[in-house]
Amino acid sequence: MQQRQRLVLLIFSLFLVFQTSNGHNITRLLAKHPSLSTFNHYLTLTHLAPEINSRTTITVLAVDNAAMSSLLSKNPSIFTMKNILSLHVLLDYFGAKKLHQITNGTALAATMFQATGVAPGSSGFVNITDLKGGKVGFGADDNGGSLDSLFVKSVEELPYNISVIQISKALPSAVAEAPTPGPSEMNITGIMSAHGCKVFADTLLASPEAMGTYEDNVNGGLTVFCPLDDAFKAFLPKFKNLTASGKESFLEFFGVPVYQSLSMLKSNNGLMNTLATDGASKFDFTVQNDGEDVTLKTKINTVKITGTLIDEQPVAIYTIDKVLMPRELFKAAPTPAPAPAPVEAADAPKASKSKSKSKSAPEPASDSPADSPDPADQVADDNAGVSFKGGRFVAVGLSFLLLFLLL
Ligand SMILES: *[C@@H]1O[C@H](CO)[C@@H](O)[C@H](O)[C@H]1NC(C)=O
Ligand SMILES: *[C@@H]1O[C@H](CO)[C@@H](O)[C@H](O)[C@H]1NC(C)=O
Ligand SMILES: *[C@@H]1O[C@H](CO)[C@@H](O)[C@H](O)[C@H]1NC(C)=O
Ligand SMILES: *[C@@H]1O[C@H](CO)[C@@H](O)[C@H](O)[C@H]1NC(C)=O
Ligand SMILES: *[C@@H]1O[C@H](CO)[C@@H](O)[C@H](O)[C@H]1NC(C)=O
Ligand SMILES: *[C@@H]1O[C@H](CO)[C@@H](O)[C@H](O)[C@H]1NC(C)=O
Repeated sequence: MQQRQRLVLLIFSLFLVFQTSNGHNITRLLAKHPSLSTFNHYLTLTHLAPEINSRTTITVLAVDNAAMSSLLSKNPSIFTMKNILSLHVLLDYFGAKKLHQITNGTALAATMFQATGVAPGSSGFVNITDLKGGKVGFGADDNGGSLDSLFVKSVEELPYNISVIQISKALPSAVAEAPTPGPSEMNITGIMSAHGCKVFADTLLASPEAMGTYEDNVNGGLTVFCPLDDAFKAFLPKFKNLTASGKESFLEFFGVPVYQSLSMLKSNNGLMNTLATDGASKFDFTVQNDGEDVTLKTKINTVKITGTLIDEQPVAIYTIDKVLMPRELFKAAPTPAPAPAPVEAADAPKASKSKSKSKSAPEPASDSPADSPDPADQVADDNAGVSFKGGRFVAVGLSFLLLFLLL
């Protein structure tokens, strides 16, 4: 029975993965307005569009093609462009009506730029002020009080999910416009070392193969989940016990070959491949929201994202509170009543491409999930005991599958 429920839950969570739409699609909303097409194009190029789609209660300050041209004439890199445009996404809902009726006539709004952690001090905030004659002025808060971007018109309003407003010109901000280093100039181990993941970074630097895999992926998109020092230090004896290829796969397991912002992680729950994924060696984990937290989970253990070290497309580095253990290399502490493992979600959406680099895959310690008892299941799926009404018919179909597996 428990087995059946677990399978039902597995299938159910796959349904959830496919149904992540939040109702609005900024690309589609802006497509109706040709004068905003350059702005729209850059929301896509900078990967801000999915972040905007994953949020509600936001306001997008769009500028027309002429204003975009003058911004682009300064030749900002795509990474700088992302900072500039993320300053134009306010984390609050301002319809045209609310804009003209701001309490006390002025307000500061946090932006997506502020939320990335890249913006120091108040530079990620936008000042909105009702001016004389019914005008509304906007200015980056680090801009010396100048409010010379003016409200033009309301473009789209889906209360209270998303409001798109046109303003007369891009918000000038020295901080957002500052050149950002290209990803290949980024010293990812340096960033990790400086922010609580020194042991992991040093271990990575000591493995040229794993380090090379990380470097190969920096330009195309890379997300790293680095275990904090205390956790990784305590784990070192287990790490040293691994074979050479086990060590390499283990280190690569903490990198994902696509860029994932925190909001993308929050809205794209499901299986995620890693830099260690190579054909039959899955080395994947499940991303799952737990309230405001984002957890990463294997059959062995679950860890939590505790911080963002950097989030500058195409690279994001997060800290995790514990060392996530791939089931390909570790066995869970045995618990009573081993049961056959459920079918692995073989056709679950793949969050990332497998790395093309081919290397000899380490032999998994023992468990091919389809045909051997896997006590780890029992540990990992504690919460599967919830009853699930209406899942019966699925369960009936699945019990055939189970029967088949048991044979
Ligand atoms: C949003 O709309 C664009 C253009 O219609 C489409 O290409 C894109 O797939 C849509 N995104 C989502 C998440 O539906
Ligand atoms: C408006 O101004 C009053 C008086 O200065 C102040 O007490 C109040 O907190 C302000 N409200 C907002 C929303 O800023
Ligand atoms: C916004 O800027 C104006 C002009 O510099 C200033 O008077 C006002 O206090 C600012 N508003 C807030 C909420 O900081
Ligand atoms: C706002 O988003 C929710 C889903 O998050 C959706 O059900 C609702 O219809 C949306 N409202 C509008 C006005 O689009
Ligand atoms: C990256 O940072 C580390 C630690 O700060 C340093 O030892 C290393 O030399 C740096 N690498 C490059 C290429 O700058
Ligand atoms: C290392 O491996 C040996 C032999 O398999 C085992 O007895 C020992 O407990 C392992 N040490 C750790 C820290 O896992």
